[in-house]
Amino acid sequence: MSEQITPYQVPPKTPLAGSAAAEIREQGEISRRNFPVVLTTAWFALAAALGGLGAILGRFLFPNVLFEPVSKFKAGLPADYSVGEVDERWKEKFGIWVVRNEEIMYALITVCTHLGCTPNWLAAQNKFKCPCHGSGYYRTGVNFEGPAPRPLERAKIYIDTSDGQIVIDKGKQFHQERGEWTDPESFLKT
Ligand code: FES
Repeated sequence: MSEQITPYQVPPKTPLAGSAAAEIREQGEISRRNFPVVLTTAWFALAAALGGLGAILGRFLFPNVLFEPVSKFKAGLPADYSVGEVDERWKEKFGIWVVRNEEIMYALITVCTHLGCTPNWLAAQNKFKCPCHGSGYYRTGVNFEGPAPRPLERAKIYIDTSDGQIVIDKGKQFHQERGEWTDPESFLKT
């Protein structure tokens, strides 16, 4: 009669069949052979994790640096600009119009004084017109229509005596409403 096993008893060990024992031995062999591969993979995973951690720490240790756009640039020779024209060659790259008349040259900053949109130069209408809310400016930069509260600003402009080129420096700006357009750095005599 076979012995009954209750649910709380551990069943007696039975000897492994020959083929099962061989299979287990073989698996052990494979595990030993794979050990270097497993170790290498683990090292790579650890290195990747440490690298990620280092990157995160770097973000905390070194604050984000804001690279401001270039504010000063050379704009060629005065003779490169025609009298009576609003020159748009620097509008896209530096946000500047260069205006030349019979007496002076000046650099207008292409930022609407209402809410900062970029106006367009409308040669046929002889004015700058802001597409956002309709402010209009004469070629001098003075506002005359729309919600703009004050004229456009002018940037510092001067000649580099080493090569005769015009230099425009947006780092220094001149406001008409403060009487700064009479400052000799706000225009060039031509
Ligand atoms: S931003 Fe130019 S009119 Fe409003």
